[in-house]
Amino acid sequence: MQIHVVTAFPKLLSSPLGDSILKRAQERGLVQIHFHDIRAYTTDKHQQVDDYGFGGGPGMILKPEPIFRCLEDIYDRFQLDGTPVTLMTPAGQHYTQQKAIQLSLREKLVLLCGHYKGIDERVIKTWIQEEISIGDYILTGGELAAMVIIDSVVRLLPGAIGDIDSAETDSVQSGLLDHPHYTRPQNFRGMEVPAILLSGNHAEIARWRLQQALQRTRDRRPDLYEKYSKS
Ligand code: ADE
Repeated sequence: MQIHVVTAFPKLLSSPLGDSILKRAQERGLVQIHFHDIRAYTTDKHQQVDDYGFGGGPGMILKPEPIFRCLEDIYDRFQLDGTPVTLMTPAGQHYTQQKAIQLSLREKLVLLCGHYKGIDERVIKTWIQEEISIGDYILTGGELAAMVIIDSVVRLLPGAIGDIDSAETDSVQSGLLDHPHYTRPQNFRGMEVPAILLSGNHAEIARWRLQQALQRTRDRRPDLYEKYSKS
């Protein structure tokens, strides 16, 4: 998979990719992640990427010219024709595990990070096929949202995580929240691991886990529970 991130703040993104599963996935050649700095596509002395919005009001708007130039350049150099551009914005569709699975099946992703108050609408009209929000709160920009997308997509790529079953049994992917987990020691400061987990009875353990997952989902996320019960 190839992931292209178009941003005015590439430094915000590089360090999370240099560790753990995301680092290994790149080393194994499962994914190539490219950052494209829109500032490099400005032509003025001050390398200005934003400007005041027409009509007044607070906040700066990302200018269209450097973004157009950047996208035209990378579509040409990386042969991205046919690849949709995904805008990170609080005005987008809510991101879900289902969407992560869909994105993980694509060969190429282009993620455009909005910033400041927004982005010139002509960029959106010309380039954007989908808009994603990672939740109902406002980040300073789309960079951290793009990071969330990259993390959740890359871990789904075959070979990215050691245990093949691991992603399939994920919380939420199954439609339920996860059951509790325990590791050694068996007794930690007087807190015991539930006896059932030490029983070696796999059928009973599976039943206990399902029951815990159902109970947690009903208590914490009645919306998910309802969806699960209906499916
Ligand atoms: N940019 C700013 N806030 C955001 C959000 N919640 N999701 C995606 N992109 C954003």
